[in-house]
Amino acid sequence: MTARRRVGILISGRGSNMQALIAAARRPDYPAEIALVISNRAQAPGVEIARAAGIRTEVIPHQEYRDRADFDAALDAALGKAGIELVCLAGFMRLFTSPFVARWHGRMLNIHPSLLPSFPGLKPQQQALDAGVRISGCTVHFVTPVMDSGPIIAQAAVPVLPGDDAAALEARILKAEHRLYPTALALVAAGAARLEGDRVVLAGDAATAGAQFMPEAL
Ligand code: GRF
Repeated sequence: MTARRRVGILISGRGSNMQALIAAARRPDYPAEIALVISNRAQAPGVEIARAAGIRTEVIPHQEYRDRADFDAALDAALGKAGIELVCLAGFMRLFTSPFVARWHGRMLNIHPSLLPSFPGLKPQQQALDAGVRISGCTVHFVTPVMDSGPIIAQAAVPVLPGDDAAALEARILKAEHRLYPTALALVAAGAARLEGDRVVLAGDAATAGAQFMPEAL
């Protein structure tokens, strides 16, 4: 197998998607390794989980930096020092400056708990319930300057059931996230998902891996 791509994960909180990526990357045939986890919050539960998993972990507290540009420069320096090639955002609650986004263009992934372009931004599960949709899900996409709007790599769909509240829908989507994110990262790391203009093209065998239906996430 060719060299595994070195991945950095950025978190701010619970870190359950980070955990799913770490677990997937333990498989010997997985095309990426998790080389670094960075949190902007020292108290994020994900920090301890990453440490316990033996992953190199850094805390870079945003409030210690004068502005976003300085904070982004510190992030970039840490990623560079660790030889990171791909970045996965996993519940990272900070917006980036455009130079940082441009520098990681086509190399930075995010997961969002809705079927984008529906319901970007905050509380997407509640947005889905308010809209009355019957199907929702999650999306892994490349990060661009506009939040939750970059080229889509992969999506997974789950049903919205009568009687769902935001917590119930969130839990169902989260299960799907934990399966989708490792799949999407593998596609990018293996070169099977390539950015062409503002679309992602899936190659050969990967052609159907980007669309998942997970009624079993029930
Ligand atoms: C997930 O729902 C993710 O889609 C969103 O933030 C949440 C993070 O959860 N961006 P976790 O920290 O991965 O558990």
